[in-house]
Amino acid sequence: MSQMNIGVIGSGYWGPNLIRNIAELPTANLVAVADARPDRLKHIKTLYPFVQITENYQDMFSMGIEAVIIATPPHTHFAIASDCLNHGINVLVEKPLTLNSADAEALIKLADERNLTLMVGNTFEYNAAVEMLKNIIDSGELGEIFYIDAVRTNLGLFSTKLNVMWDLAPHDVSILLYLLGKDPHNVAAQGRSSIYKGIEDLVYMHMNFDNDVVAHVHVSWLDPNKVRRITVVGSKKMAVYDDIEPLEKIKIYDKGVDAPPYADTFAQFQFSYRYGNVVIPYIKFTEPLRVECQHFIDSIMSKTQPRSSGVTGLRIVKILEAADWSLKNHGSQKVIEPLELEKLIKSPAALSVNGNGKH
Ligand SMILES: NC(=O)c1ccc[n+]([C@@H]2O[C@H](COP(=O)([O-])OP(=O)(O)OC[C@H]3O[C@@H](n4cnc5c(N)ncnc54)[C@H](O)[C@@H]3O)[C@@H](O)[C@H]2O)c1
Repeated sequence: MSQMNIGVIGSGYWGPNLIRNIAELPTANLVAVADARPDRLKHIKTLYPFVQITENYQDMFSMGIEAVIIATPPHTHFAIASDCLNHGINVLVEKPLTLNSADAEALIKLADERNLTLMVGNTFEYNAAVEMLKNIIDSGELGEIFYIDAVRTNLGLFSTKLNVMWDLAPHDVSILLYLLGKDPHNVAAQGRSSIYKGIEDLVYMHMNFDNDVVAHVHVSWLDPNKVRRITVVGSKKMAVYDDIEPLEKIKIYDKGVDAPPYADTFAQFQFSYRYGNVVIPYIKFTEPLRVECQHFIDSIMSKTQPRSSGVTGLRIVKILEAADWSLKNHGSQKVIEPLELEKLIKSPAALSVNGNGKH
C-alpha cells in the first residue's frame, strides 16, 4: 500500500493526538514533527524514534512531505498554512481555520489556484455519534426541528489571547452547520469577562436558521461541570447527544406536547403532554481523529473537497467573527451574508449546497 508522507506542525496539547493517529494509519508515513519548543520535540522523539524533528517547520519543505497537519495556536494558522500551500503542500489546519474571514478566503483561493487540499479539523464532523444524530434528524424521526441547544462548559483552560467562543464554539457551530446543512441568517452574542479583562470566559450565542429553527450555544471556561451536550427538540421527538457519556451517547426521547385546541380542566391539559420510550441507539465508534486523518488523505488522493473543507472553515469563521462583533456591541444581531463562492474557487459545484464536500 502506498503511504502519504505527512508532517505535523505543533506538538503541544492537541498535536500529539494527531501525531499518534498519523503514526498508526497504514496509509500515512509520519515523516517529521515541528515545534518551536525543543522540550516537546524531545518528548515526541522518545515516543516515535523514527520521526525527524525540527524547531523550524520550513525544514519540512525539503523532506518530500506531501501534506501537513497544523496544530499550532490559532493566531499562527494563516501564516503557516499559506506558507505550506505556497510550497505545494496539502494542508489540514486545526480549528478555527483562521481568526478572520479575509484570511480564510485567502487560504481557500490559494489552495484552489494550486490544486491543493485545504481542510479544517472539525473533529466532530467525523464523530460517529454526530453522524448518527444527523441521520436521525434527516430521517424525520424527530419531526419538524424547533430548536438546537449546545452546551460546552468546564473549568479552564484560560487563554489570555482568545476568548472562550473562539476556543470552544468552533466545535458547536461546526456541529450545527453539519446537522442543519445550512448557515444561520444572523447571530447575536453576549458574554462576560470574569477573570481576564476583555477576554470573555462565558459566551451565549443565539442564531436563527431557515424555517424558524433557533440554535443556542453556551460556552464557558468558568463552570464547575464539564458538559458537552447537544439537545435537538422536534415536533415529534427530542434527542440528546452527550459526548461525556462513554457508551450511551445519544438518547431519543419520545416526548412532546400536543397542543389541545382548548383545555377546560387540569386533567385535559395534562393529557396534552406525551411521555413515551427513551431509545439509546448502538453507535459503532471509531476514534473521530482517525476518521478525520484518513479522510484528509482520501481527499488528497481523490482530489475531492473534504467534508470539512476550507469553505466549511470559512463559514464558521464568518459566524464567529459576526458573534465577536455582537459581543462588542451589546448583543446586537448581525446578519450573516451568504458566501460568494464563485469568487473563491473555480468549481463551487464540487461543494454541496451547504458548502460541505459530498458525503
Ligand atoms: N479538534 C479539537 O478537538 C482540538 C482540541 C484542542 C485544541 N485544538 C486546536 O489545536 C490547536 C493547538 O492547540 P493546543 O491546545 O495544542 O495549543 P498548545 O499551545 O498546547 O500547543 C501549540 C504548540 O504549537 C507550537 N508552536 C507555536 N508556534 C509554532 C510555530 N511557528 N512553529 C512550530 N510550532 C509552533 C507551540 O510551541 C506549542 O507546542 C489550536 O488551533 C486549537 O484550537 C483542537
